[in-house]
Amino acid sequence: MAPYYAKISGWGMYVPENVLTNHDLEKMMDTSDEWIVTRTGIRERRIISEGETTVSMSVEASKRALAQAGIQPEDLDLIILATSTPDYLVPPASSMIQDQLGAQCGAFTLVAGCSGFVYSLATAAQFIQTGAYKHILVIGAEVISKGIDWEDRNTAVLFGDGAGAVVVSRTTRPGGLLSMKLGSDGSGWDALLLPGIGIKNYPSHEIIDRKDHKLKMKGRPVFKFATRVMSDATTEVVTQAGLTMDDIDVLIPHQANQRIIDLALRRLGFPAEKTVVNLDRYGNTSAASIPLALVEAMEEGRIKEHDKVVMIAFGAGLTYAAVVWEFQPWEIGPEDEEEAILVTNWPVDNVFQRKMQEMRLAAWKMKVQARTKASEASMAIMLPLYSFRKGLKKRINGDKKAK
Ligand code: COA
Repeated sequence: MAPYYAKISGWGMYVPENVLTNHDLEKMMDTSDEWIVTRTGIRERRIISEGETTVSMSVEASKRALAQAGIQPEDLDLIILATSTPDYLVPPASSMIQDQLGAQCGAFTLVAGCSGFVYSLATAAQFIQTGAYKHILVIGAEVISKGIDWEDRNTAVLFGDGAGAVVVSRTTRPGGLLSMKLGSDGSGWDALLLPGIGIKNYPSHEIIDRKDHKLKMKGRPVFKFATRVMSDATTEVVTQAGLTMDDIDVLIPHQANQRIIDLALRRLGFPAEKTVVNLDRYGNTSAASIPLALVEAMEEGRIKEHDKVVMIAFGAGLTYAAVVWEFQPWEIGPEDEEEAILVTNWPVDNVFQRKMQEMRLAAWKMKVQARTKASEASMAIMLPLYSFRKGLKKRINGDKKAK
């Protein structure tokens, strides 16, 4: 059996219409367009309007990615949502997205700060490469604006909202995930922190008075960490893939700060022309940052078939993640059409055995369903009987006592 490879077969994005420029911020706090542009490269960002949420933006981006891939929500085997700003702490936003899309598959939320999308992409590739799944929706979506203290100029100027999604599909055409590095340095856990929303410090009047329900950031340490891991992790994945930076066609860095990107490019000796930057228009959209840049690069035709692309992110945790991804031909061929084989069956590739297995599975499923129905029915009969007997006993005992 030919090995399986992960292929990005569809992509889509959604950003709110509402634009907040540096000049708008000048009216809200003690800052200037000049300071923000020279220190970060950001000129404007998108902020959600009434009714927009992480889930609603994810659904829009996902619909576009599914249409691009030419598949239906029912074709999905798994949904992975990368976010640190879900609509609710409970339930997982991923399940709400699964429901609103009309998909009938598993879904989970992966929390790894701004590195979440790259973590999720690497995770999706594992499910594809084992043969377990055929189509996985990977989303990076974030509403950072809700967690911003609009009086804190240290953080308010940096972030924006948005969502990007890709469909990762199975193919036998070589390419996809060539190498990965998933990193974490938890010693820097408090460098980027939302202290008052969680189990340790549950929202209270004191939390709100202290503005602990808003994002706190130590900018300098994050800057230092970011520049180090950007060059180190990129070097590691490129070497791991048996390549050099000369072989890399496009670099998609986390869109946090132009100065961080410039420094990393200098260290890597990589040209700015081959690097995707859109932070001037969207700011730092955390887990949505890489997919937004990826989708725009795809739409502008900057990524071509067989291109080798590095995606590198860093963020709260502190986390970081990098991959080298080779893009296979877009055209759908017979290599993309092989039937799914359950990972439990793998490597059973004999058609007869597979069919037998499917039949056994169907019979077992029916047996379980029948057993469930039977126990539910017996419970429906027994429970009232049980309650009636309990009540009768109580009454008899009461009568005895009264005598
Ligand atoms: N407008 C105007 N002045 C500002 C300002 C703003 N928005 N924010 C900070 N300043 C001021 C500071 O108060 C300080 O003034 P002082 O010298 O009088 O004390 C001065 O600018 C320099 O501040 P400093 O924090 O040293 O600036 P910096 O060059 O380190 O840039 C960041 C600040 C936040 C842009 C930079 O540290 C950074 O990008 N860090 C990484 C953040 C990041 O990427 N976070 C997300 C990770 S996913």
